[in-house]
Amino acid sequence: MTTPVNVTVTGAAGQIGYALLFRIASGAMLGPDTPVRLKLLEIPQAVKAAEGTAMELDDCAFPLLAGVDIYDDPTQGFAGTNVALLVGARPRGAGMERADLLEANGGIFAPQGKAINDGAADDVRVLVVGNPANTNALIAASNAPDVPKERFTAMTRLDHNRALSQVAKKAGVPVSEVRRVTIWGNHSASQYPDLFHAEVGGRPGADLAADTAWLTGEFIPTVAKRGAAIIEARGASSAASAANAAIDHVRDWVLGTPEGDWTSAGLWSTGAYGVPEGLVSSFPVTSSGGDWQLVEGLEIDDFSRARIDASVAELAEEREAVRSLGLV
Ligand code: NAD
Ligand code: LMR
Repeated sequence: MTTPVNVTVTGAAGQIGYALLFRIASGAMLGPDTPVRLKLLEIPQAVKAAEGTAMELDDCAFPLLAGVDIYDDPTQGFAGTNVALLVGARPRGAGMERADLLEANGGIFAPQGKAINDGAADDVRVLVVGNPANTNALIAASNAPDVPKERFTAMTRLDHNRALSQVAKKAGVPVSEVRRVTIWGNHSASQYPDLFHAEVGGRPGADLAADTAWLTGEFIPTVAKRGAAIIEARGASSAASAANAAIDHVRDWVLGTPEGDWTSAGLWSTGAYGVPEGLVSSFPVTSSGGDWQLVEGLEIDDFSRARIDASVAELAEEREAVRSLGLV
């Protein structure tokens, strides 16, 4: 039998964890021929709940599931891990300022970055889901100096999928006919979902984007504020769709993106598209051979430039805030 891939999931007892673990164990993330060993990392108070989830995983009798281990210590939780999904994060509490949130998350993602640096497998791939995802990825990567920066990514796939779905509805075509949409910038309300290089039902996405009232009055705000709309409607943040996006992100990273399409992921910037080096920002990407490749050479007009710059400026502010806290 093939050696199982070690997959660490932090925040395993949370709502995204519950929607994610069963799909990983079923083979949806790494394919139907790859056995997985799940390593669940939680805080001590949530270990009991994680044990309950592990019992349910057992009860599914997944043929690909080689084992489940539960930890409350990052060193053990990341030892030998090949894929790390950093979902657990500190939610914003009442009266908490943005700086407090960044500091509280720094207390989670700095030690996790160190533990990944010291003990993960050489091929480790990290996806940060916990918010603020881009800056948490920056903190984790900065605390893992021996791991190549491109192995740390932040999740903007949910925003990408949201954009695909909104465009498909507007154009009256199946989602499968919407390609090459891009999410730029931060996983926040400042993100910029870009249709100008897309193809929608065989036609240029720019044709749809020419309806500026829809583009700026509906499409961009609907995608950018969808997380808040779901919290408002559900009384809790998105969970199944977030888990689904995490599955999509890792599956495409490991197994490749389809020919003729691209997706969006938060990557450590090397300066492309005017995004300052060392910010974790969302870009258009393809994947082959287990590595992301940035889609290069897209023309960015003034409309898009201003929106990308605004979201990147927010990322730069977040970096300044965590720098001043000594986290990066
Ligand atoms: P949740 O509160 O249901 O679960 C979070 C879990 O993380 C809890 O079980 C908690 O005990 C655990 N946790 C906290 N600190 C931890 C640590 N240091 N180590 C390990 N586990 C820890 O939250 P959720 O709904 O599952 O969401 C998780 C995160 O994902 C939140 O930050 C949320 O904002 C974010 N999110 C991101 C996206 C995205 O698109 N990037 C989408 C949806 C949600
Ligand atoms: C989402 O986009 O659904 C989440 O990031 C919202 C949130 O604040 O948890």
